[in-house]
This record gives sequence, structure tokens and C-alpha cells, in this order.
Amino acid sequence: MTVKFYKQDQQVPLEMHKVRIVQKLWLPPVEERVRLINEAGNNTFLLQNKDVFMDMLTDSGVNAMSDLQQSAMLRADDAYAGSETCNRLKEALLDVFGTPYFLPAHQGRACENILAEAYVKPGMICPMNFHFTTAKAHITRVGGEVVELVTEKGLEPVNDMPFKGNFDIDRLKKLVAERKQDIAFIRIETGTNLIGGQPISMSNMLEVLNLCRREGIRSVIDASLLQDNLYFIKTREPGYRDVPIKDIMHQLAAAADIIYFSSRKLGFSRGGAIITMHENIYRELMEYVPLYEGFLTYGGMEVRSMEAMSQGLYETLDMEIISQGPIFIEALVRELVDYGVPMIEPAGGLGAHINATAFLEGRIPSCQYPAGALASALYIAGGIRGMERGSISEQREPDGTERYAALELLRLAVPRRVFTLSQIKYCADRVKWLYDNRELIGGLSWVEEPKVLRFFFGRLAPIGNWQNDLVRKFREDFGDSL
Ligand code: F0G
Repeated sequence: MTVKFYKQDQQVPLEMHKVRIVQKLWLPPVEERVRLINEAGNNTFLLQNKDVFMDMLTDSGVNAMSDLQQSAMLRADDAYAGSETCNRLKEALLDVFGTPYFLPAHQGRACENILAEAYVKPGMICPMNFHFTTAKAHITRVGGEVVELVTEKGLEPVNDMPFKGNFDIDRLKKLVAERKQDIAFIRIETGTNLIGGQPISMSNMLEVLNLCRREGIRSVIDASLLQDNLYFIKTREPGYRDVPIKDIMHQLAAAADIIYFSSRKLGFSRGGAIITMHENIYRELMEYVPLYEGFLTYGGMEVRSMEAMSQGLYETLDMEIISQGPIFIEALVRELVDYGVPMIEPAGGLGAHINATAFLEGRIPSCQYPAGALASALYIAGGIRGMERGSISEQREPDGTERYAALELLRLAVPRRVFTLSQIKYCADRVKWLYDNRELIGGLSWVEEPKVLRFFFGRLAPIGNWQNDLVRKFREDFGDSL
């Protein structure tokens, strides 16, 4: 059920919560923003948060917590071994997913490390709908290879497919027929991050999971972005509107061998977890936890985060709570699309995604990193920190050649329950201004390029003087406004 407005043409996203703790923001003047983004190597990861007005870098670990989470944190039971906090978390996982076995890890990529160490050997492949940066880095680090099987339509920037994250089942079957022996595991990513937070349907997931069962192939679900994906299953997939969220989660967990997630996203907390219905899998993976993470009852997590995770998982069962991310994202996407800004459509989870190639009308070649350039330009335009999700986020091939991204995206994450509607409107306004001045934006080139996960620490410089032209135009249009 949604709240309808009496006098509004379009549905307005309504906050179903109120703000009780606030953090003061600072918006540096535009001249200062140019200096700061260059100090940060034109890499939004390297900006200081104090210099950021709207932090839309990620939804990871920055979602607002509920009063119930905060109060749960107060009763955390701090013990190296056998804490009550861990027992409560196990209970929550059993209740919410139906999984009796749980291994803790300090965050999502730590789960990926464990799975890669345990199951991936040189020459093996991991088919998946689409890769995620850290999952791929761990698989390739131990000599494995990622094979992407998302449907072709999933990579089209704009269409009306409700589930762009779906597997191409025919290609999956063909691959299984040809290389079954080489498959370490099949990874299903819910809320497919790098193609724009696009969901995967329940029926597609179950088809993949059933195929895995029939063929005796290990199946792994990355449920980090499951929360938004659940919302889309409920609202977009025929037959699921009235199915309780908990039933959907139980069905998934029963059909999969392993589920892992970053609870920086799922559960509005910090940390990570690997869960399973199968004791043998639990035993296979158990030894890696004390080795890399911490003792089996905390796994590198802080007990208060574990309490917040338990409560956060229960909140994931509440449609009113999990709708807050997607409806604000949709409002932002709709406003920008109405203005003509090329966005990934339909709106997905996690955030709004600008199609940087189309935004810049193909003027900036991949080797000058259009999505990175747009990220830098948007910080200059509005003190807004987005994240490049394009070729900078790819890694070079083993022979050193560039691997250009299928899509050059600027991601504007919408951390859940953090921004008000007026802040979302400010963001849309600055993107619109940038769009009207898109011919001023130029490319970037490397100053320092790290070998692994280069998007985190890499430093780039503008090619030419385009950033100063942008500042001049900003002053012309906005006068002495921040
Ligand atoms: N899987 C997915 C689908 C993710 O989106 C992330 C993190 C991870 C795994 C790794 O989890 O960060 O806890 O180690 N995504 C963040 C993002 C970093 O900004 O999209 P982590």
C-alpha cells in the first residue's frame, strides 16, 4: 500500500520515517571544488567526506540506521567466543532466510575471498549474470575466470525489461554442456550492481538454481543487493505481490547451496556473512574464517554491528522499509529522464545511473574515461560525489591491454533513508545544468595507475583546461551561489 497525494500529478516519494539525528553539511565554493577534485586525482574515492555536500558514492555502510538498530547495539555482548550477540544473529538468519549454518566475515569481499580460496582453482570458470569488481578480483587472483551470461537486453541502456539482471538461460545451458567440469560455482548476483543495480527475477534465479541442482554444480547467490531486488520481485514480477518477503527469502535459500552478502548493504549495518542449509558446505568453509577473519562467532565484525545486522535483517521483511531506496531512486531517474538526460532505464536499485557515453554524445573516447570525467564534472558542478562505473572500474587484461566497460556509467547512489526529497531535487538540478553544458566537459588521463582495483586509488588529470571553463560558466549562470 502506498500513500497517495491529493494534488500532485505524479506520485511523490514519501519518507516513511522521520529524522532524529543529523549531520551538518558543507558545500565548498565552486573554485574550491576544482582544487579539491584535483587534489583527489579526479577520483571521487579520494575526496575527503568533509568536502562533499551529497555523498552519493555508494550505499555501502552509509544507510541510515533505525532507532531499533541503535538500541539493539547497546545490548551487544562482547566476547571473543560464544557471544549472545552471535547467537541472536544466527537466530535472525535462521528466521529470515531459514539457514541454520552461518559463517561471519568482516564484509562482502571477505566472503568472496573465502569462496575463491575454497573452490576456485587455476583454469576454472565461474559463470555469473554479471561480475562485481571484488568478486572478480578474488576469482582471478586464484587463477579462475569469470564468464558473464546476462541477457543481451540487460546491457541495453534503455528498454522496458523489468529484470535486466536475468541470466541468458540458453547460453548458460550451452556453457554447462561444454565445460561443466571446469565450473567452480555459478554466481547469481541479485540487484546486479555494475549494470545499474538492475534486478534479477525470482523465476530466472530458480531456473538457474534448479539447473545447478540437476547438474551437480555448486550455486552461490551474492545477496548484497537483495533488499532492492526483493522490492522489484514484489512490484514487478507476476505472482509475487502477495507472497510474503520471508517466503521469497526462504525459497531462495532452500534452492541455493550458498548465500553470501555484504551487510554494509543488506541489513543496513557493517560486516558480512556466508549462510547455507548444508553442514558439509559449512565444514568446507569453516577453516578459512579464523584464518582470515576472526573467531567463528565474530569473524572480524564488531559485535554492535552484528546486533544492528540482526535487527536490520528483520527490517528487510518490511515492504514499507525496503521501498524507500527504490522510490527515491525512481523519482530522481524520472526527473532526469523527463529533462532528456540519458539514464539507465528502467530505474533499478542502489542508485540512479547516468549513461555517460550518451550524456557526452560519444565525444569522449573510452580511453579518456567518459564516466570518470563526468564524475569529476559533477563534483565541480554541485559538490556531489558519484562513482565512476565504467572503464576505470575494469581491470586490464593479463597482457596489459585495456578492457573497456560494456557501459560507461556514473552511479549516483541513494543511501537508504539518508537524503530528503529537496536534496534529491538539488542533485537533479545540478545534473541538468551539467547536461546543458555538456560540450564543456573533456576527458581524463592517468597520472598514477595501480595494478589491482585501480578505481580505488588511481589518480587522473583533466586533458586540457575544461574544468576551468566549467567554473567560468557556473559563475555566469549562478552568480555568487555556492
Ligand atoms: N557484492 C556486491 C553486489 C556489492 O555491491 C559489493 C560491494 C560487494 C559484493 C562487496 O561487499 O564492500 O562489503 O566488501 N559494493 C560496494 C559498492 C562497494 O559501492 O557498490 P563489501
